[in-house]
Amino acid sequence: MGTAPGEAVAALVSPAGRRDPYPLYEALRAHGPVIPVRSGLTVVVGYAEISRALRDNRLRVQDAASYDVIYPRWRSHSSLRGYTDSMLYRNPPDHARMRRLVSSGFTPARVAAMSESVERMVHRLLDRLADLGAGGAPVDYIAEFASRLPIAVISALIGVAERDQQWFREMASDLTIALEGITNIARLGAADRAMDELAAYFGDLIEHRRRHPADDMLTALVRAHDDGGAQGDGGAQGERGVGREGGARGSRDGGGGARLSHDELVGNLMLLLTAGFETTSFLLGHGLRLAFEHPEQAARLRAEPGRSTSYVEEVLRFETPVQATSRWAETGMELLGTPLEGGTKVVLMLGAGNRDPERFPDPTRFDPDRPDIQPLSFGAGPHFCLGAPLSRMEARIALPLLLRRFPALAAAEPPDHRDRWVGRGLRRFLITV
Ligand code: HEM
Repeated sequence: MGTAPGEAVAALVSPAGRRDPYPLYEALRAHGPVIPVRSGLTVVVGYAEISRALRDNRLRVQDAASYDVIYPRWRSHSSLRGYTDSMLYRNPPDHARMRRLVSSGFTPARVAAMSESVERMVHRLLDRLADLGAGGAPVDYIAEFASRLPIAVISALIGVAERDQQWFREMASDLTIALEGITNIARLGAADRAMDELAAYFGDLIEHRRRHPADDMLTALVRAHDDGGAQGDGGAQGERGVGREGGARGSRDGGGGARLSHDELVGNLMLLLTAGFETTSFLLGHGLRLAFEHPEQAARLRAEPGRSTSYVEEVLRFETPVQATSRWAETGMELLGTPLEGGTKVVLMLGAGNRDPERFPDPTRFDPDRPDIQPLSFGAGPHFCLGAPLSRMEARIALPLLLRRFPALAAAEPPDHRDRWVGRGLRRFLITV
């Protein structure tokens, strides 16, 4: 029956698979939506099945206890220690406590209130593109725009001074390597250094905010550390209302109260800084590339910027920035009819789910007019991306402004894709403005 699952999975991380994983997803789909690949590894490629699995609390994220089993020396890496102090590496009940507290600072209202300043940042970056591209000089859209906007936005939210942003961007880029966990141990040296420097920087920033509170996200997060914060909405799909029970466990300096410890506060700041940096730049990169490939869509965005909402959803579906995430079955269980032994890794192929023909008719067609897109690109369930409203807002604002500002915008050469499977994005994209 065509390509064996093991072969298809191995091919995903080959250079050809990294470049174009989509035929491999279809080879996997021929074996069903949930596929046991070998003992200890199951992959999920169906939209509905991925969505169900991400809401199944018997499947756990990688955390300190699981690192202890697979890589006992992981604690020698400060970058890994830092991330395991963040919500993305925590399971119930700890996760809900952390998520509620961080959400109390990173509220949808605070994000929405940023729209005008995001517009200003976009205009400033467009001015820069205009200068750099004057006289027809090719400009790298990724380096000069797509990777600058997300850092400028998150820096403004956290309260990082503008003069520190260049340094901040370099640190974030080094630290992002550690988001891939222990798959990249050889490159963790730079991530560890970035983590140490950023932890010191955040320590000072936190102290400053404690002495000089402001109406900003960091002040709210410092409050979450000091007194448990305001009652925020955890915002997780499928986990609403359970936040307050997250409770005492894991709060190491709150006398048992539902607080964030200092390390957790710093770990979550690192996560906010890095989780949305490359991912949003990938979204902006794909968004422009697809506009060039579909000039009729670019024309519509220029004429009606409000169309960017559905345009961005379709970009997220069609070129999913994070192609996969994973979970672990802690004990033996059955996942949608497939038995899993305890310790099995379950890889949820978001990029495959977003092209599931059962959910999206004619999935290889780029069509922002599809009804009810709802891609899996931000995950689902308790760990649903906390930054989804922010990155959506950035792309919805930036893409139409970019296209309107430069009516003759064009690719100077084909885009250069990153040689990665999970983090799917462009490395370099020379354009003329
Ligand atoms: C296009 C941009 C983005 C994409 C594609 C993306 C994707 C994702 C995905 C797939 C997850 C779930 C991972 C899992 O369940 O294993 C996630 C979680 C998360 N994301 Fe994003 N993200 C983006 C932007 C952002 C931004 C801008 C921020 C913050 C400023 C952010 C912060 C987070 C956080 C804090 C989590 C962890 C939530 C939790 O564990 O409860 N993300 N993201």
